[in-house]
Amino acid sequence: ALFARGQQPLKGKRVVVTAGPTHEPIDPVRYIANRSSGRQGYAIAAMLETLGAEVHLVSGPTALPDLVGVHMTRVETAREMQAAVAAALPADAAIMVAAVADWRVEAMGQKIKKGSTGAPALTLVENPDILAGIGHHPSRPRLVIGFAAETENLLVNAQSKLARKGADLIVANDVSGDVMGGANNRVRLVSKDGVEDWPEMTKREVAWRLAHLVAEKLAGSEK
Ligand code: CTP
Ligand code: CA
Repeated sequence: ALFARGQQPLKGKRVVVTAGPTHEPIDPVRYIANRSSGRQGYAIAAMLETLGAEVHLVSGPTALPDLVGVHMTRVETAREMQAAVAAALPADAAIMVAAVADWRVEAMGQKIKKGSTGAPALTLVENPDILAGIGHHPSRPRLVIGFAAETENLLVNAQSKLARKGADLIVANDVSGDVMGGANNRVRLVSKDGVEDWPEMTKREVAWRLAHLVAEKLAGSEK
């Protein structure tokens, strides 16, 4: 279904979005990060707000300004992001766009110093999977959407993420090029109904189409 210009099909719906990278501290002055700019997630949050949703954006560190009309929570680490997402529930939909760091450094004390002991060995521990937590949550949003950043075996990996994380839809993108930080995106939508390929378009256009898809999926259903 198409919605008329200016209409707000998501009025009264609450949506949680994650965006950006997370920063995982190594010591008080250093961290592990990734190349996510937050642009795709922010564009989605903005478009959902335009369509009338009450949007809660949980953002890792980005250079992007706060979105007007959106409830913003800025976090650093995966664990902080998980807590902020939990605090934003219940919601009608969750869209997890963040490039969450898979691992954090186990112990963080004082600044690591150079010395006679040589280069330090960092012990990494796995971070919680925020999307999987939402997908299997007792008060699971009716619609749960994840992204999948892949450099190979895109479809197989996206399909296994769909099942493992309890998501309704995985938006898969090939990040072997310059997607991370770039203006364009080419995505494939993986759901239990199959795969839908979208042509390359701007992240804003991806956001526009995805926000309308969310509106369609939530349309007419009771909270
Ligand atoms: N995700 C999450 N919490 C994590 C890791 C990932 O919520 N700790 C979410 C991302 O926001 C995204 C989806 O899970 O919506 C897929 O992220 P991705 O990094 O592609 O998948 P992983 O399960 O981490 O697997 P891998 O990195 O090994 O491909
Ligand atoms: Ca990952």
